Amino acid sequence: MLKYDFTNCFNERHPVFNTSAQLSNRYAAMEEALKKVKSAEPGFLKILDRPETLSELLDFKPNLSAYDNFVVLGIGGSALGNTALHRSLKPFHWEFLSREERKGQCRVFVWDNVDPDFLQDQMSLVGLNQPGVDASKTLFNVISKSGNTAESMAMYLYVRNALEKQGLDPKKHIVFTTDPEKGILRQISRKEGFTAFTIPPEVGGRFSVLTPVGLLSALAAGIDIEKLFKGAQETKKRLLSIPVSQNPAALIALHHLLYYEKGLSLSVMMAYSNALYTWADWYRQLWAESLGKKVNRSGQEVFIGPTPIKALGVTDQHSQVQLYNEGKLDKVLTFLEVETFRNRLEIPSMYPELEGLSYLGNQRFNDLINLELRGTEYALKKHGRPSLRVVFPRIDEAHVGEFILTYELATTLFATMIDIDPFDQPGVELGKRATYALMGREGYDALAKEIRSDKGEDA
Ligand code: PA5
Repeated sequence: MLKYDFTNCFNERHPVFNTSAQLSNRYAAMEEALKKVKSAEPGFLKILDRPETLSELLDFKPNLSAYDNFVVLGIGGSALGNTALHRSLKPFHWEFLSREERKGQCRVFVWDNVDPDFLQDQMSLVGLNQPGVDASKTLFNVISKSGNTAESMAMYLYVRNALEKQGLDPKKHIVFTTDPEKGILRQISRKEGFTAFTIPPEVGGRFSVLTPVGLLSALAAGIDIEKLFKGAQETKKRLLSIPVSQNPAALIALHHLLYYEKGLSLSVMMAYSNALYTWADWYRQLWAESLGKKVNRSGQEVFIGPTPIKALGVTDQHSQVQLYNEGKLDKVLTFLEVETFRNRLEIPSMYPELEGLSYLGNQRFNDLINLELRGTEYALKKHGRPSLRVVFPRIDEAHVGEFILTYELATTLFATMIDIDPFDQPGVELGKRATYALMGREGYDALAKEIRSDKGEDA
């Protein structure tokens, strides 16, 4: 199980740090929030009781052996979890390994931007747009809950066209992951017979990593999706039945809430692990889109929400930590630590006469990185800055599943405490509609006009 260290959140005599009394004063309200979430059972919890989620994917697994590359075309909640699963659970050089070294499992690429230079270069890696090479060994997975998002649809159109130009059957090289009923992707899959996996309607984008959204690309890369799912299932059972005083999701939410109320509105997740850094990216979306809201559930304007930030230890010690220690007192840090890395790497002992080098000899990089974390944690506390630490005994499917569920629940509990809806994103929707309007989509003329006149561009 993951371990949590909240000791650096507390200081009984400091004007800013949380005290045990401040925390326990909110336990009753948090118990209520937990009860509410349990009885409402939002989609991200419900799906864990549906084994068919996994069986549909496992039935599809034999089809994946025909491919060497698996490309995700999606954005936001339809991409960040895929990247995080892949980066945290596969070796960093996975895409450079031969098929034999990968034991026939796919290389995975996540295309989550419409930067033409990025796309062009990525395409050449998987047999599109590269003379003399084709994409016959590539499977593209267009992921979109709404089945409408401009970026994902544009990539779909491009890829489909490029496949057809190569004389390849798009239905053999493209699968969809989308809503069971709504959106253009579902419409196309029905009309043209594309394979389409289902995102349960009650699960929103940023909470969907444990649906076919994240699980299919994970399966393609040989990640054990059953262990991942089980890790989340067991965590759900445990976290919904233990008191908030021992409940990591409740404590994460409560500490952050108390600090937010004291004006510490920035939440930095600093992973001391390159593999976990992408989870900080996933967390950034989860926390930002779920908690950043204009109105509460009663429709009153609240303009609320802590701002999540990602950082990488030790790299950002030489970039950000000066600010975290001495800048404005507006941040709570969450460190992600790994106890046992996949590798043990020793620093050789050389230059015994040079004190500035000799102390490093015969020590491990494994210790260096974790001791640097401890040093940063200590310095922050000395500077009067709170932090908490999440410890992965090792990075594997079970712990990653546990982490996902814990943070999804913590986010929902925070939202429940401040009485906002964590599952909508009206602020994103307006931007999406504005894109449709500016790209000339039918039915959006009025909005396009409004945007242009707002910029003073109207004739
Ligand atoms: O969390 C969300 O709902 C959003 O970030 C979406 O995931 C993102 O906008 C992509 O939407 P869709 O999956 O509908 O293409």
